Amino acid sequence: MNILLTGAARGMGLGICAQLAARGDTVYATCRKANDDINAIVARHPGRVRVIDGVDVAEEAAIDRMKAGVGDAPLDAVICNAAVNASFDTDGVLDLDLGISLHEYQTNALGAVRTVKAALPRLSPGGKIVFITTGPQALGKKAPAPGVYGYRMSKGAMHTFANLLTLELKPRGIAVQIVTPGSIDTKMLWAVWEAGRTPNPPKDALSIDEGAQRIIARMDALTLEQTGTWVSNLGVPEPY
Ligand SMILES: NC(=O)c1ccc[n+]([C@@H]2O[C@H](COP(=O)([O-])OP(=O)(O)OC[C@H]3O[C@@H](n4cnc5c(N)ncnc54)[C@H](OP(=O)(O)O)[C@@H]3O)[C@@H](O)[C@H]2O)c1
Repeated sequence: MNILLTGAARGMGLGICAQLAARGDTVYATCRKANDDINAIVARHPGRVRVIDGVDVAEEAAIDRMKAGVGDAPLDAVICNAAVNASFDTDGVLDLDLGISLHEYQTNALGAVRTVKAALPRLSPGGKIVFITTGPQALGKKAPAPGVYGYRMSKGAMHTFANLLTLELKPRGIAVQIVTPGSIDTKMLWAVWEAGRTPNPPKDALSIDEGAQRIIARMDALTLEQTGTWVSNLGVPEPY
């Protein structure tokens, strides 16, 4: 398969990239800045990882960079993984820095839109688009605690985009799914944990390898029959 993946140089994205390349897929691996970790995967799997460097999904230029990096290659799947959670350390709406919230929207919601804009011309019937979200409790009325406004609202906007895209792309034979990754032992979780803003300790979280494996399994299992669904990392429909 040919897969476009965002945020591939670090965290869960790096794990997804490594596993896809190891099994023989070709990954168009976007990142803001390539590093030793992704370069090591490139070296281990010659020709299987095409790094598209300098892709900041919060910026409009990301679309052309991704398009140029993919070139004429057909894509089988897209994984919108890149995201930022910068608003976890606020006590309430009066503390909320809307500049930070705007950046979260630019990255988490519009970044996913930009990724799809770049990829869609290269997707054919049978293609798949996977959006990585956060836990349903964080977006619903039963959030464990208030706060994290910008991150949660931007993921909510991404959901609305995914729902609209489902309607648009079903007639074209392209499937869309939203996947909750669960707690994964990455920098993002550590930052929230160290600030005392999550009850989920990193020691109980899935490893990056386990999390990546489950995301890939969801992408593999996705068919047009399930388009528009929101599922857990094990494929169970999420309550919302
Ligand atoms: N870890 C968890 O427990 C958890 C829980 C719920 C949901 N998630 C979701 O899982 C996904 C992966 O998160 P993670 O845990 O791997 O987080 P992470 O370790 O913080 O990694 C975030 C990734 O997103 C990239 N990124 C951030 N801002 C970007 C931008 N403006 N343009 C391009 N790339 C950008 C980062 O690239 P740089 O290296 O350039 O910063 C990095 O590759 C995210 O969608 C996140 O919301 C994670």
